[in-house]
Amino acid sequence: MARVFNFNAGPAVLPLEVLQEAQSQLVEYKSTGMSLLEASHRAKDYEAIHQEAGDNIRKLLGLGDDYGVLFLGGGASTQFAMVPMNLLGESQTADYTNSGAWASKAIKEAKILGKVNVVADTSKDLPTRVPASEALKFTPGAAYVHITSNETISGAQWKDFPKTEAPLVADMSSDILSRPFDAKRFALIYAGAQKNLGPAGVTVVIIRKDLAERASEKVPVIFRYKTHLAENSLYNTPPCFAVYMVTLVTRWILAKGGLEPMGRLNAQKAGKVYAAIDGSKFYKGTAAKECRSDMNITFRLPTEALEEAFVKEASSKGLKGLKGHRSVGGIRASIYNAFPAEGVDTLVALMQEFERRNG
Ligand SMILES: Cc1ncc(COP(=O)(O)O)c(C=O)c1O
Repeated sequence: MARVFNFNAGPAVLPLEVLQEAQSQLVEYKSTGMSLLEASHRAKDYEAIHQEAGDNIRKLLGLGDDYGVLFLGGGASTQFAMVPMNLLGESQTADYTNSGAWASKAIKEAKILGKVNVVADTSKDLPTRVPASEALKFTPGAAYVHITSNETISGAQWKDFPKTEAPLVADMSSDILSRPFDAKRFALIYAGAQKNLGPAGVTVVIIRKDLAERASEKVPVIFRYKTHLAENSLYNTPPCFAVYMVTLVTRWILAKGGLEPMGRLNAQKAGKVYAAIDGSKFYKGTAAKECRSDMNITFRLPTEALEEAFVKEASSKGLKGLKGHRSVGGIRASIYNAFPAEGVDTLVALMQEFERRNG
């Protein structure tokens, strides 16, 4: 089998070694006589997997037992609602930064549930960007401050996180575990797994435990972080197989040396594509240079017809998923942790060759 270079934004490429390991254990997990797909979420073997997933994430982020790691369903989109449900009291205000399409969705949900102050809005800016950390003015006594660490559609990423007095909350769906950062500065981090952590189906929530106590009795039990912390994400049936895959992916990151080497590799991979963009008059990057994402590289060609031809030719050569998000067009190369360096070199070579023929 020839694997293609998978540039999809999510669900996205997974490490080949991880897929092979899962394949080797698919029909019978260890010597249990059954697949993990069939196992009880209360079984000892599953419990060990479940525990390891959380421990690995804490280890990679340098967090202690004062943080819980939850495995929930509903995607990161459910967290857009769960965060204000749990953390935003009736008389309080939550500060949000609007950096693009995903932050806008988080804000929309929060506004349904409480008072929101949008402290900065770069969602319509071109080149695309995230707000500058230093310029932010927060609401005194804000319930929390919410940011979207990487805007998957626009290709803009926070490089320095804001310093806040209020608990800092981040949607890290598209860049979690892709680079080292001081996780202790965050009170809550959430991410859909389907980009850097595993397959679709599980959402990881990393929460400082004291924060979970805030939820009022009016919040349905299933939507309280407190419930899931108390039950170690086994209050209801978790997406067991997706959690198993997160365990394998986080083991893979640990075996590669953790977030420092992962971040270095990601910066090198992204740097090659940005160098190809900057070295040409044919390609134009979509994001402001200081906010360029190492995960989702967005760029334009001179015309939409050329973009279409580029995507088509790339696909015919085994470079799949390069079409930009339907809401913005253009090209998007999503190169998460598991995306191979060789695929980046192949893309750069194609970009140069395509320009020679069409520039
Ligand atoms: C930054 C970001 N937040 C939230 C989401 C929504 O995630 P889900 O589809 O898991 O609800 C996405 C999906 O692509 C995303 O990229």
